Amino acid sequence: MADKQSEWQWATVVEASEIATGVLRIELSPEQPTPVKPGEHVDVAVELDDRGDERSYSIAGASASGDRIALSVYEAPMSRGGSRFMHGLSAGDRLRITKPLQDFPLRVGAPSYTLVAGGVGITAIRGMASLLKRLGADYTVHYVGNSPERMAYLDSLVEEHGDRLVPHITAQRGRMSVAELIESVPRDAELYMCGPIRLMEEIKRTWERGERDMTALRFETFGNSGWFEPEAFEVSVPQYDVTVQVQAGESMLEALENAGVDMMFDCRRGECGLCEVDILQVEGKVDHRDVFYSERQKAPNKKMCCCVSRMAGGCPGKPARVVIETS
Ligand code: FES
Repeated sequence: MADKQSEWQWATVVEASEIATGVLRIELSPEQPTPVKPGEHVDVAVELDDRGDERSYSIAGASASGDRIALSVYEAPMSRGGSRFMHGLSAGDRLRITKPLQDFPLRVGAPSYTLVAGGVGITAIRGMASLLKRLGADYTVHYVGNSPERMAYLDSLVEEHGDRLVPHITAQRGRMSVAELIESVPRDAELYMCGPIRLMEEIKRTWERGERDMTALRFETFGNSGWFEPEAFEVSVPQYDVTVQVQAGESMLEALENAGVDMMFDCRRGECGLCEVDILQVEGKVDHRDVFYSERQKAPNKKMCCCVSRMAGGCPGKPARVVIETS
């Protein structure tokens, strides 16, 4: 089994306040401050109804020494419990967090940059935009949201970045055209994105179709949205003679781990592919929520990343089902 060697520490909540509809900004004072780089996140030990778990949150802002860091957490309607726990925090609460972790580094020195944030994905993009401004780089930030009230930091971003900030507000101008966005990106630009899986999938597909350099496309996802609402389903692993129910609020990986199946994983966010399983049989639809596979790899439903992807399309009394083989 693979796991991240993270250094855990205690942190105290200094302040928690709603900064946009459904988005709570939580300012923390970690016991062992570390300066924070753009793109970094922390893992947080969260308490769910029946167990403890970990969630990853981008660092939305930090003091120079790192003695204050801010997270911005959207309370997802179909939360698996993590964002509900975070929204229950208030000043004085203590919680366990890791030191800042980097899975989404900004490469300095590209001819130009396009940053794309969807919803609360702005937390990962905001620090990058500030750094690029400080460096005098050529950059554009596209910020996609339903309405201004739901878009955290919108006013301060407009103030900081002026014309370099392009808001795409669905309630005002309809859905953003990904094709037009990619068309506007210089061929030599690097694109960094963080947001819902559907938006990132579309950007990735359009980028691929345009025969652009895939290494110039970088993304951060915490793998929490898919094509279908999460529902309970059944997974069978004949090689271990195991069949388990995956509840709507847990991942297939978690359900298999709880059943004692020794699983490989790393990111738990649909990015690294380490949790890949072979699909032997399906009843229902595979809801691929990862950004690891290309569209072509997903289409035949032969493999899935079980940390985020799930089954959908079941009905009362007959849940969706998948039979898999692990490596
Ligand atoms: S653990 Fe990385 S994709 Fe599942």
